[in-house]
Amino acid sequence: MDIQDRWEKVDQYISEKILKDPEYMDRSRQRSLEAGIPQINVSSAEGKLIHIMAGMTGAKKALEIGVLWGCGSMYIASALKEGGQLIGLERDRKNAAIALKNLQDAGLDSLVEIRIGDARDSLKKIRENGEGPFDLIFIDADKKPYAEYFSICMEISHPGTIIIVDNMVWNGKIVEKGAEDEDTNGIRSLYDHISERQDIEATVIQTVGSKGYDGFAVIRVK
Ligand code: DHB
Ligand code: MG
Repeated sequence: MDIQDRWEKVDQYISEKILKDPEYMDRSRQRSLEAGIPQINVSSAEGKLIHIMAGMTGAKKALEIGVLWGCGSMYIASALKEGGQLIGLERDRKNAAIALKNLQDAGLDSLVEIRIGDARDSLKKIRENGEGPFDLIFIDADKKPYAEYFSICMEISHPGTIIIVDNMVWNGKIVEKGAEDEDTNGIRSLYDHISERQDIEATVIQTVGSKGYDGFAVIRVK
């Protein structure tokens, strides 16, 4: 068994034994496959962790950057406190339409508002309209503007806000000399930005599994 094979089997084992995704998750994944959406959503294990973190922190107002087919949105929305709301930002209109269908199927659509467009514009509008602060933010969008996204997120946060950022290891490319593509450099820019801030505490956890070798950051606003 090669190593990726082993990671996948273990992910599947964990998933079947203890994650127990709701049935709407499988239907939603299927819908996204049929629509030709790339399967670059969070793993069930990571999604469940974000769900647990939303519950732990008693999050009521949440923000997701990069909705894709709504996988992360469903893990977050289903954990929000009574009266909670998730704003999801998605650039691609087709993805947003499938995500909305999926959220309807899950009975979560009343908790989620998907805004279509460039996340930088949407974030600035959220800031200008005073729609924050958010209790929990999940960043899982295009990598080049990661630091920019994060920096605006800090302006719509409060002490105690939890910010989770996906793809912070990127198959180890962050430490690979010669890996100078814009995604990898975008992720590195966020490391630089985080390292310079005094108002947060941060960690990155490396992961393996069905999504290969990657990792995510967990950041808490001081
Ligand atoms: C990929 C994975 C991700 O989690 C993501 O947010 C974007 C791209 C990928 O494997 O290409
Ligand atoms: Mg991701």
